[in-house]
Amino acid sequence: MISMLERIPALSGAAVLLCVFSAHASPDRPDQAAIASPHPIATAAGQEILVDGGNAFDAAIAISATLAVVEPYGSGLGGGGFFLLRQSGEPVQYQFLDAREKAPLKSKPKMFHRKGIVQPDLSLNGPLAAAIPGLPAALVELAERYGRLPLSISLAPAIRVAYRGFKVDSVYRERANWRLFALRNNKESARLFLRNNEVPNLGEVITQPELAQTLERLGDKGRAGFYSGLVAQALVSGVRRAGGIWNYHDFEEYEVVTRAPLRFQMADQRELISAPPPSAGGIALAQSLSMLQQLPWRESENIQRAHYVIEALRRAYRDRVLLGDPDFVPNPVAQVLATDYLLQLTTSIDPHRATPNNILPPAPRWREGENTSHFAVLDTEGNAVTATLSLNLPFGSAFTVPGTGVILNDEMDDFAIDPKGQGGAAFTSIHPNALEPGKRPLSSMSPSFIESPRSLAAFGTPGGSRIPSMVLLSMLKYLDDQPISSWTSTPRYHHQYTPDVVEYEPGTFTEQELIDLRERGYALKETARDFGNQQVLMWHKNNARVEAASDPRGIGVSTTFKPDAALKMMRSCAGQSCLP
Ligand code: GLY
Repeated sequence: MISMLERIPALSGAAVLLCVFSAHASPDRPDQAAIASPHPIATAAGQEILVDGGNAFDAAIAISATLAVVEPYGSGLGGGGFFLLRQSGEPVQYQFLDAREKAPLKSKPKMFHRKGIVQPDLSLNGPLAAAIPGLPAALVELAERYGRLPLSISLAPAIRVAYRGFKVDSVYRERANWRLFALRNNKESARLFLRNNEVPNLGEVITQPELAQTLERLGDKGRAGFYSGLVAQALVSGVRRAGGIWNYHDFEEYEVVTRAPLRFQMADQRELISAPPPSAGGIALAQSLSMLQQLPWRESENIQRAHYVIEALRRAYRDRVLLGDPDFVPNPVAQVLATDYLLQLTTSIDPHRATPNNILPPAPRWREGENTSHFAVLDTEGNAVTATLSLNLPFGSAFTVPGTGVILNDEMDDFAIDPKGQGGAAFTSIHPNALEPGKRPLSSMSPSFIESPRSLAAFGTPGGSRIPSMVLLSMLKYLDDQPISSWTSTPRYHHQYTPDVVEYEPGTFTEQELIDLRERGYALKETARDFGNQQVLMWHKNNARVEAASDPRGIGVSTTFKPDAALKMMRSCAGQSCLP
């Protein structure tokens, strides 16, 4: 297979445009493909697969698997995620692949308690923290039901990078530093991801031959290459030897679930298509957008606009305590999206004062992880994927199973394992998200489209509980007809009902604006650093033009290109690097 990874070295943080205008504009098809991903090598892997005749679903496999290699802190075969799919055709179809990890069958509600007290270390670090992975099953599902290429071909770029290695970048260093203690505590993780027990220097090469072999098995044998046979044996015995509770039944019974996406009609013939439970994100977005639609946010100045957004978020985040895995608990989706209810929420917003939380019903506490990964891809047929993948904290549980190269998630911490709420917990919940064997923990991951007869826009970001607020701020830029670069660069602020605090990135508000917010009754907290890593794209159906953007906070790369033209250009360069 032609390798484009070596041939597209010039992709950079800025969007690369090979062709921006088509004489054959059609509302059915974009004239270009587009990719936005958080890592240049993953973007190049998706581009390679599209150029080689794959569709957006094949490219999504290549991007996900390559992210598993180059972002071992963000996502991987030991984790899970949500894929929102758009299949072109008449009519267009949307599917939501739920590849969220599931609690092992031997889980017990108090498995993270010792002497009656929750031990956060147990649900965050090491093998007990890990739920049964879903990403490998999702890659198989994408290839078998939606892709055009064999799985082994779509996985080839990731396998190549795992064998040859990738260079340590600034994001890798920052995440490894954050999790240095946990990585040092696991011999295999330290061997693979550190150098002499320290964070590797910029430019050092990380190779992962064991992970390459695991990917090869997955490519050759499909589901059986991961969920049974040698890999499953190594995973189960490695976890059990280290004190974990996985067994073979967990692997036999793990299935990706295809769910109906959350769909919500907006003004101007727009529709939000987003993540349903077990994500709380789509509902929070639909509620917030609905409230804001009834408020004059667009014509308001900066602080009045922020006030409306914060109050919408306060109300939307409050309701997430009602949600959990729909295979275990009923979710009151219709009730929280009912027109009358949303109107009631909107009219309770005072345009000048923060609403005290104590006039809203109280809720118990729980906490969510901070790190994930997100990408979006569109092909020239109009198929599209927007996907958020996760291990939970950076480098997940920091536990790598020897012989497999697979670093495991710590999504068990996303359950409401501490109903009384201890430590720095941010959320509250007792029942719907309680830990049960075989259950999926509630998530904030919110891969979303907004589609209308005029355009298709894709949104998403990592960032734990802040995901829905970040996606909302992006969507408001889109609704305000702002350039796509501003969807990712816009300064971020966040409110999640409890704690009753507005968090904001450094530089989001001026001194005068902060005074104004305090006078309205808000408690404010500047975050230590910026947050999120949005990857977005937009197809303008009137002229078939396509745009994409990667968050300037990360090292991601967006690209728009004509796969045929890119292939011709590669051939005319006789295999040498010649793309811009
Ligand atoms: N672990 C992050 C999330 O699922 O939202």
